[in-house]
Amino acid sequence: MITVKNLTVKIDNKVILDDISMNIKKGEFVGILGPNGAGKTTLIKTILGLIKPTSGLVYIDNMELDDYMKKKGFYIGYLPQHAIVNWSMPVRVVDAVLIEKVRPFGLFRRYSKEELESVEYWLDMFGVKDKMYSYIRELSGGQQQRVSLARCMIHNPEILILDEPNTAIDVVYNTKMYELLKGLASEKMITIIMVSHDIGAVTKYVDEIMCLNVKLHCHSKTDDVNISTVFKEVYGEDMEIVVHGDGCKNCAINKAEK
Ligand SMILES: Nc1ncnc2c1ncn2[C@@H]1O[C@H](COP(=O)(O)OP(=O)(O)OP(=O)(O)O)[C@@H](O)[C@H]1O
Ligand SMILES: [Mg+2]
Repeated sequence: MITVKNLTVKIDNKVILDDISMNIKKGEFVGILGPNGAGKTTLIKTILGLIKPTSGLVYIDNMELDDYMKKKGFYIGYLPQHAIVNWSMPVRVVDAVLIEKVRPFGLFRRYSKEELESVEYWLDMFGVKDKMYSYIRELSGGQQQRVSLARCMIHNPEILILDEPNTAIDVVYNTKMYELLKGLASEKMITIIMVSHDIGAVTKYVDEIMCLNVKLHCHSKTDDVNISTVFKEVYGEDMEIVVHGDGCKNCAINKAEK
């Protein structure tokens, strides 16, 4: 579904991404890990066509991005690391979720029954259905993040790209969010790329992990990878990994599942 071939990105002559090649299949849930400044956001933006690579190619569904967008329209959901949303605007959650859909008709047209049902469905999925008619400025940071996720999903994307979706989200909801994303990938065949610093949880939920630090240090099935070795290479020797499992009875992640 997403193929990256020998991608190099230089900014001001500094190599940010060095010869990255990868292949992500339809319906795969992929986690990208790596330290601050590793190039994770740059990689995502290059896949989305927001940054032009110095060399290399990106194919989506065997097409160049422009052709894919022309053929499929708005089919990539993207949650940026720093969303450009003015949360102080006097806009209700329902308007914020439908904002791209209403543009040709103006913000205050009446929504169709299907549109409202779809908003309700996705807000419910992300646990904020009760906020549908609240003003966005009245929401907490985590609730705003969940509204942004609903906004990505309203377009039924084939591909969902999330840059640290969990930064403002509490630990209990994080677990639910990961499970939901896992379900979207495996049941609805949505291809998901998620950048996260939440190493323990990422290794638990995703199908494949990519460890990035300028170069792609690994791209493999979660079970196949020797996590300690690769992470020490990517993060440095001081790295200590805590992977959650059935044994850790008191941790918040396992409690949330019960
Ligand atoms: N517009 C830019 N101009 C100059 N340097 C940039 C620009 N964008 C990114 N960089 C540099 O590229 C490198 C990678 O940045 P990037 O944002 O991709 O890292 P990241 O892995 O997403 O980090 P984080 O975990 O902190 O979000 C950094 O060294 C950053 O300073
Ligand atoms: Mg980033």
